[in-house]
Amino acid sequence: MWLELGCRTSPLFLEGRQRPDPISLECHGKGRGALKQEPEAPPPSSPLESPEGSSPPVLGEEVSRETTGPHLQRTDGKGSQTELQATAAELLGVEQTLFVPTNTMANLISVMCHCRRRGSQLLLGHECHIHVYEQGGVAQIAGVHSHPLPDLPYGTLDLTELERLVTRSLGSPYHPICELICLENTHSSSGGRVLPLEYLRQVHLLARSHGVRVHLDGARLMNAAVALGVPPAHIMEHCDSVSLCFSKGLGAPVGALVGGPKDFIEEAWHLRKALGGGMRQAGVLAAAALVGLADAEEMLQRDHQNAQRFAKGLQELASPVCSVDPTAVETNMVMVRVDGLPPKELCRRLQAVSADEAAQTGRAVRVLVFPWTERSVRAVWHRDVSAQDTELALGKWAFVLRTLRLGQDGRS
Ligand SMILES: Cc1ncc(COP(=O)(O)O)c(C=O)c1O
Repeated sequence: MWLELGCRTSPLFLEGRQRPDPISLECHGKGRGALKQEPEAPPPSSPLESPEGSSPPVLGEEVSRETTGPHLQRTDGKGSQTELQATAAELLGVEQTLFVPTNTMANLISVMCHCRRRGSQLLLGHECHIHVYEQGGVAQIAGVHSHPLPDLPYGTLDLTELERLVTRSLGSPYHPICELICLENTHSSSGGRVLPLEYLRQVHLLARSHGVRVHLDGARLMNAAVALGVPPAHIMEHCDSVSLCFSKGLGAPVGALVGGPKDFIEEAWHLRKALGGGMRQAGVLAAAALVGLADAEEMLQRDHQNAQRFAKGLQELASPVCSVDPTAVETNMVMVRVDGLPPKELCRRLQAVSADEAAQTGRAVRVLVFPWTERSVRAVWHRDVSAQDTELALGKWAFVLRTLRLGQDGRS
């Protein structure tokens, strides 16, 4: 058996058979319902006005025009996009949400909505996704000046420093004017840590008292809510806008959303168009996102348990090469500290299979993880990785550590 435990984008494969995409539109309850709706026999028509409401050719018979719903007409009407946006707004406790292609675009739209004057400043953590991994879009496209602060180990920012920077520009002719603070929850580079509610409350209070807004990069907000045991809306009480990604733990093939007050979403609609995010047949994608949301709590809980089980199992191996702190594992990520060989090399060994492995363990397993820093690798759990897969991954890890110890492959 070959097993690949996914890194950030890798699905999991079993011998000779590629697993389906994170969400199979054929076999998941609600999505199946959404996509298998038998449309009533449509009246004969010649829709020559625009291709916006067309259905995908492959699914044409099964996806109703109503389900696919285009982005490009303001009157979304009925359909899975409208359902998704309304469901998500209720879940997040915001007035409205808007479906967009990616979380990167959701973040950029949010920054552009909040920072409207020339010379706006944005405060954020120096390791956060917006600052490091989004092509500096807020500078490149929005013309916003980012001031990064050091990330503390829990993914938080120092409140005193935050206040100093928020207030520094007040009345100053020299400093850019701070309009926005961006937080990330869960915090990816710290290993999926969850921002405490009390911290969020304090940041929001501080921001509000100086006329600054708080945007939450909530790509993994649902993981944070599950870990805290609160509805996502509780978290959002302390933020002015949010992004949420459907194509991570929620397992949809594509899609994210922006959430916030009605006038904010009105503006977001224009920006989505300007950034090229208006999509035809977007309802198909929204239907998949609805599937991801439907059982999110149960699936994410399971991912968190698997990640925790893995962390404890790896700790029990007591290896000087790989160490992990299970108490730091709050959601679906495990950061493994690697000593004595480059993380890339460890990843290569976890991925490689050999006759030796099959002979010693009775199976060959491929584990895909991501070399995160010079001293760590990151493993991420998602809906395609089961408890059994987790045990197989641990077994493979034990095998690799054993071979390293024995120096069987030429490493002294
Ligand atoms: C915290 C965070 N924000 C935003 C994004 C960007 O999401 P997308 O790939 O959908 O643009 C990611 C992606 O990994 C992320 O981890």
